[in-house]
Amino acid sequence: MNESSDLRLTRMPLNNGSGHMPALGFGTLIPDAAVTITATRDALAAGFRHFDCAERYRNERQVGEALQAGLAANGISREDIFVTTKLWNTNHRPERVEPAFEKSLERLGLDYLDLYLIHTPFAFQPGDEQDPRDQNGNVLYDKEVTLLDTWRAMESLVDHGRCRAIGLSDVTLDRVLPIYESARVKPAAIQVESHPYLPEIELLEFCKEKGIIFLAFAPLGHGARPGPLEDPVVTSIAARVGKTPAQVLLAWAIQRGTALLTTPKTAARAKENFNISVLPEDAFSEINRIETRQRFNNVVNTGTPGFIPRVKSA
Ligand SMILES: NC(=O)c1ccc[n+]([C@@H]2O[C@H](COP(=O)([O-])OP(=O)(O)OC[C@H]3O[C@@H](n4cnc5c(N)ncnc54)[C@H](OP(=O)(O)O)[C@@H]3O)[C@@H](O)[C@H]2O)c1
Repeated sequence: MNESSDLRLTRMPLNNGSGHMPALGFGTLIPDAAVTITATRDALAAGFRHFDCAERYRNERQVGEALQAGLAANGISREDIFVTTKLWNTNHRPERVEPAFEKSLERLGLDYLDLYLIHTPFAFQPGDEQDPRDQNGNVLYDKEVTLLDTWRAMESLVDHGRCRAIGLSDVTLDRVLPIYESARVKPAAIQVESHPYLPEIELLEFCKEKGIIFLAFAPLGHGARPGPLEDPVVTSIAARVGKTPAQVLLAWAIQRGTALLTTPKTAARAKENFNISVLPEDAFSEINRIETRQRFNNVVNTGTPGFIPRVKSA
């Protein structure tokens, strides 16, 4: 699937022929608005050309501002970057999909998206409150809509031409299969947590077989310590090849045929995380043999974000 041996330039084809996704992606799950702007700007300057956003991150406007300014300052055209955003759980009802999409585009200051994802397969009670709960603190799910209903509305967005591809996020293989079977527009990408402690081999194999891009979030284990960044196999390979543990983990992810999203928040870390190169075959295999298993984000089980602080809607 990979087109380049320079991991920084690896691009992966979308299965509907609408373009390519740069494998090395920058994630914008950054709670602070000012940091969102500087980190997005620094990522673009470091070389990142793939930006992952979400209505739920509540910072699409800041990402959009940073991108417009960065593109203009660096002479980069819109066509040279790949932008994804995501439909939140409270907008799963078909009639809410296009308005949510349009609002995201407006906040981002864009006139098309490269990829639009259903953020999680869990429909929450529709409305402006992004985290609807009952008086006991239990999430209010919406039983009136199925994932396939929402997918059909996503397909219409592709038909209307302002979104080049659509996909799923925070799904398990058993949720992907029925959508894949019924879809008129097949999912082009699936975004899930993945790193050496959560290799998701079965889902990755399915994606490879169907030409779906497997897009790994938290490739550094969300920076958790202890976690993959401090794993002795990873740190010893880093010392051996003269790279940092973060660079080793990011290289491993692309070498195994996934795209990834990482969230460096400073210019120095943006340069570090972009400056990756191919690992020797024995190092790659050693990482594949790590047996520790750990999931850092439980969103896949409930639809409730694991890394996003809870806030009441304004
Ligand atoms: N679909 C979903 O439900 C979902 C869920 C989670 C994330 N995502 C997406 O995936 C993106 C990436 O996830 P993530 O933020 O967990 O990715 P990550 O890159 O695995 O973790 C980011 C954390 O790692 C640390 N870090 C970054 N570069 C480092 C380096 N070179 N050395 C040491 N530590 C480093 C940072 O810590 P500091 O805070 O110290 O800088 C940062 O907080 C998100 O921004 C978002 O776009 C999607």
